[in-house]
Amino acid sequence: MSDFKNILFEKKGAVSLITLNRPEKLNALDSSTLKELSEAFAEVDGDEAARAVVLTGAGPKAFAAGADITEIAGLDAEGGKAFALRGQGLFRKMERSLKPVVAAVNGFALGGGCELAMACHIRLASETAWFGQPEISLGIIPGYGGTQRLSRLAGRSAALEMLLTGDRIPAARAKEIGLVNAVFPPDKLLGEALALAEKLAAKAPLAAAYCIEAVTYGSDMPLEEACYYEATLFGLACATEDMKEGTRAFLEKRPPKFKGR
Ligand code: COA
Repeated sequence: MSDFKNILFEKKGAVSLITLNRPEKLNALDSSTLKELSEAFAEVDGDEAARAVVLTGAGPKAFAAGADITEIAGLDAEGGKAFALRGQGLFRKMERSLKPVVAAVNGFALGGGCELAMACHIRLASETAWFGQPEISLGIIPGYGGTQRLSRLAGRSAALEMLLTGDRIPAARAKEIGLVNAVFPPDKLLGEALALAEKLAAKAPLAAAYCIEAVTYGSDMPLEEACYYEATLFGLACATEDMKEGTRAFLEKRPPKFKGR
């Protein structure tokens, strides 16, 4: 297992727990942290026994308070574009990861932190979490996919309000606009996220991967093509051993044992 400095990477059975671990900087995403995150996700991808991921932040205050502003401060046009493309590449890789990723948002998810949460497949939040895209107050815009994922998740009107004001919204409001799936008391959040990830890890892995692919790629396609793509993935699912096992187990009135084949 890699030797990480800015993240913690733990394997809990089929669930990998990744914790951003710079609490003294509110887990701000500097380039070393992004590199380590990329390596951790590559390790999960290559590990057949890893079936789901929980991503959270260390400390009571922050999930991640954004990209590291000390790194942003020195950027010029060319450097800024490269900086944004690097983060976007990682976040897209996470979003396309065929193993479900659950964000456990334990505090501030601002700027790149909010963008990171949005690149996860499911978001659970603590009642004490705050979400925001405050880049406008720094004279910039989100560069890690925030303008696009926020408007797709929460709708254009809520997205533009957050982007143009830079205001933070509490977890309850984030739930209301569809930015998070569920909100829990702070001391319950991680347990809930791990329990959800375990539940996801026990499902048929190839079917889970096809669900992620259908939503991730299909939602940007016209409906007709997207449904055709869904039918193709449905066909692939029908060719798996897990489909035979799942349907047989139902008919034999017993729980299925999926193998990811
Ligand atoms: N980049 C770099 N460092 C950051 C950071 C970021 N995005 N967010 C917080 N930090 C650092 C602070 O500089 C401070 O470091 P220091 O102790 O060496 O001075 C430390 O984390 C603690 O933050 P602090 O601001 O003292 O905490 P707070 O509780 O008073 O305020 C926030 C919390 C989240 C409101 C505030 O830190 C903040 O506004 N952060 C920036 C959010 C942002 O604009 N993100 C988008 C970046 S593109």
